[in-house]
Amino acid sequence: MENIVDQLLNLLVTKGGDIQYGNEDVTQLEHALQCAELAEQHNLPGPTIAAALLHDIGHLLYEDKDPIHEGKDGRHENLGADYLSQYFDTDVTQPIRAHVDSKRYLATVEEGYYDLLSEASKLSLAVQGGPFTKEEAKKFIDKPFMKEAVEMRRFDDMAKILNKKTPDINYFRPYVEKAQNSFNLKNIKN
Ligand SMILES: [Fe+2]
Repeated sequence: MENIVDQLLNLLVTKGGDIQYGNEDVTQLEHALQCAELAEQHNLPGPTIAAALLHDIGHLLYEDKDPIHEGKDGRHENLGADYLSQYFDTDVTQPIRAHVDSKRYLATVEEGYYDLLSEASKLSLAVQGGPFTKEEAKKFIDKPFMKEAVEMRRFDDMAKILNKKTPDINYFRPYVEKAQNSFNLKNIKN
């Protein structure tokens, strides 16, 4: 049987190579690769680079159509993080779980952030609950791995460039392999 890393990377290449990233110009695969490359170039920790590659995997896990196409929030961040939590620890899953809330956070605390979002991101932000209140923002950023989540979010927003050259998916495989939780790594060895 394929191991989980193969399964995830294959999903990104096959389904992710086929479907667009929301209403943006790039595919899910291009978006994931651009996001991971930016995270690496900015020296984020290895598990955050793995998270950057996998952060939107929830969009590829819906059996039917992604509800976002009907303007509904399918909470793809939780779907992805819950699935990945079988195989990875919170250093990977928390930035993924929080990548939507990180947008809500930045829209509140950082002047100019909202204006720079793409139209598709502004629309999804509204569906996802809009910017945090000041109190919500303060509560949010104190939780573990939220600094990494917010940094990753910046690259998520930038990873939408049509025809941008990036390394291919196998370049990022070691980050994903290394980030697996000890339970999963032990099962592979036995
Ligand atoms: Fe994304």
